[in-house]
Amino acid sequence: MARSTETRYSGVAMSLHWFITIAVIANWRIAEAAEHAANQEARSAVMGNHFALGVLIFLAIVFRFAWRAGKGVPPPQSGHAPWERVLARTVHYLFYILLMVMPLAGWLAMSKYGSPINVWGIVEIPPLPVAADPDGAKAIFEQHATAGTVLLGLIVVHVLGTLKHTLIDKDGNLFRMLPFGTPRP
Ligand code: HEM
Ligand code: HEM
Repeated sequence: MARSTETRYSGVAMSLHWFITIAVIANWRIAEAAEHAANQEARSAVMGNHFALGVLIFLAIVFRFAWRAGKGVPPPQSGHAPWERVLARTVHYLFYILLMVMPLAGWLAMSKYGSPINVWGIVEIPPLPVAADPDGAKAIFEQHATAGTVLLGLIVVHVLGTLKHTLIDKDGNLFRMLPFGTPRP
């Protein structure tokens, strides 16, 4: 049950994939909402959710990556061209890198402001022992927002790839990540 079978991902991998998908899209919308907040107080409250959900995404992606390292993934479908395999793998690895680096950069930037990260009042992550540097923190957050734009572009490529395989090639690609349907080997 836990192990990925020949044609589809394991239940754990699927659950994490869809949880992370929803959480990442929600966190992007939360950051956008903060930009349009009426005042500073409202903005801080909205951004507090962005920070906390960012921490949760970090934990989920690290767990997902460790799970993947231990349990493996199903082999690529036989009908995929070499360039499609390379593109898909590259996008997958970039997802892992961005979803780990973006929250860590956020933590570093918060630390440069001297601020802890409060995760919905459950835990408080203390700042790293770095010197106060508000300009440096600002610069990191600007790059964090740029990374967010890159992430959204990758999501578009990833979804178009899935749709192309599922609807045009009709190889059931989407069902590799769902507990029903018939993906081709
Ligand atoms: C993987 C988790 C995260 C994702 C996917 C993510 C995504 C994003 C995106 C897409 C934006 C840009 C929104 C826009 O331009 O309208 C953004 C902005 C921002 N994020 Fe995150 N974020 C994550 C984690 C964090 C964490 C953990 C922190 C802080 C501890 C953080 C702090 C910020 C701040 C302060 C901004 C505003 C930056 C600016 O406008 O200069 N984010 N984030
Ligand atoms: C934030 C959005 C998303 C992220 C970060 C994401 C991330 C990933 C990652 C990292 C993998 C590779 C899993 C592995 O080998 O470890 C993957 C596979 C997959 N994703 Fe997503 N995904 C997202 C959204 C979506 C959406 C919206 C769809 C459906 C339309 C989708 C469909 C799939 C499918 C079908 C696979 C299996 C691909 C294969 O092995 O052939 N993903 N995703």
